[in-house]
Amino acid sequence: MEQTFVILKPSCVARGLMGEVIGRIERRGITVIAMKMMQLDIEKLREHYAHLADRPFFPGLAESMMATPVVCMVLKGIDVVRVFREMVGSTNGRNAAPGTLRGDLCMSNQANIVHASDSIENAKIEIARFFDPSEICDYTPQNLSFLYANDELDPDYYKK
Ligand code: PPS
Repeated sequence: MEQTFVILKPSCVARGLMGEVIGRIERRGITVIAMKMMQLDIEKLREHYAHLADRPFFPGLAESMMATPVVCMVLKGIDVVRVFREMVGSTNGRNAAPGTLRGDLCMSNQANIVHASDSIENAKIEIARFFDPSEICDYTPQNLSFLYANDELDPDYYKK
């Protein structure tokens, strides 16, 4: 099953929105398999946002990401990279659709409460950047048969 990487940003932590975001993740039927609070530093942010290093907003973005500790998470589910990006909504909260996390809970492109991996490949890179494999509890939730159909869990199910 697919995994994705999430950061609950300082704009989520400081505004007391962690429970709201985690609650929506759980209610959707997505499984949290790793979670930790940590203080980011500039070295980690230069690596994580290397693709944005030349953008004029990079210093402000990096500063905002160090304003409080953040919560890093690994989520698991079928198609979870795409599904969670859709739950998060457009980068700028003012443009994000109602019903998305950003569209319901924020008004900014910097203070946009959540980071989520944008591809399966980047999810693998970001999970490895922030988590040691020993910190990931890749367990099978007991309610799996109430989250998915048998053929969604096993594509060969009806061929047997
Ligand atoms: S861009 O402009 O297309 O590269 O932006 P995007 O890929 O959607 O966003 C990448 C991250 O940069 C943050 N961002 C900004 N921060 C401050 N100011 C401005 N103007 C700005 N625009 C984008 C945005 O919050 C994204 O953070 P992550 O953590 O990746 O969601």
